[in-house]
Amino acid sequence: MSAAVDQARDEALQGLAQAASAEALEAWRIDWLGSKGRLKGLMSSIRDVEPSARKAFGQALNDLKGTLESAFEARAAASSDAAQPLDVTEPGTEPRGGARHIISRTIEDMLDVFARMGFTPVTGPEVEDERHNFTALNVPEAHPAREPSDNFYLQDGHMLRSQTSTVQIRVLEQTPPPVRIVAAGRVYRPDTHDATHYSMFHQVEGLYVDRSVTIVDLKTTLLAFARSFFGPDAEVRMRPSFFPFTEPSAEVDMKMKIKGRWQWVELGGCGMVDPAVLTQVGIDPETWTGFAFGLGVERIAMRRWGIPDIRWLFENDERFLRRI
Ligand code: DAH
Repeated sequence: MSAAVDQARDEALQGLAQAASAEALEAWRIDWLGSKGRLKGLMSSIRDVEPSARKAFGQALNDLKGTLESAFEARAAASSDAAQPLDVTEPGTEPRGGARHIISRTIEDMLDVFARMGFTPVTGPEVEDERHNFTALNVPEAHPAREPSDNFYLQDGHMLRSQTSTVQIRVLEQTPPPVRIVAAGRVYRPDTHDATHYSMFHQVEGLYVDRSVTIVDLKTTLLAFARSFFGPDAEVRMRPSFFPFTEPSAEVDMKMKIKGRWQWVELGGCGMVDPAVLTQVGIDPETWTGFAFGLGVERIAMRRWGIPDIRWLFENDERFLRRI
């Protein structure tokens, strides 16, 4: 009797392979697996089998049933995929375009302006050592800027840089003057976050060292930047200040148009490179002089785009990112 089962299997599978449409598949299912189908017929023929062989016959029929059912399911699944082919003309979900972040765009624009004035963009590491962040910049050991509460200190004299002035030292160590560079990047200070403070922000640092650089060159450069960046009516104001790495030092304000009104905005610091800094990196301050400046990127971006809260820049809220 097992020959009958084998024969039924061959015949059924052959028929299934030939069923080319949904209707033919359904007809096959009714023919073989239906309640009055051929499998059922074979099962009732068990009565005619010798009692000693019934068990084996029943087993073989059960196997056949399993085989036919799974073959049918596989075939039906494949043909239903084929029945719903991919319609490439159907409108899909439109992917939303990404955009460069407002801070990246501001930095890019600033570097463009400085590049046109002959400043080469460079970068420096965000994990720095105290020598580059403080000592070589003429910041004394006991200076309050070194306070642990004002800096992110890491291990072994390392820290997250608190200012991009570090890059001045990195460049002067490597490159004999004349040098004219701009360095943009992140800086870190453990501030409590509020509308105007964040523990990470961005600066654009400039450095020009040559044989006879004067404070007039500094002011001229900043003014040229302001006019190119904010428009031909922009102005620059330098207010005397103190930084350990410049002498004299000044705070830089730029007059820019905000919502139709011209306003002074404090943007950073600047000054003539202190001879002690040049000496630290083995450059003779009798031959070389220089100026340096550091400008806050967030201040510029926030004023320019009317962003009232610095936290909006870094929280990655799509509602904000999509609007600017
Ligand atoms: N590094 C200073 C700060 O973060 C800003 C600064 C002041 C940079 C004077 C300079 C400079 O290059 O000459 O507050």
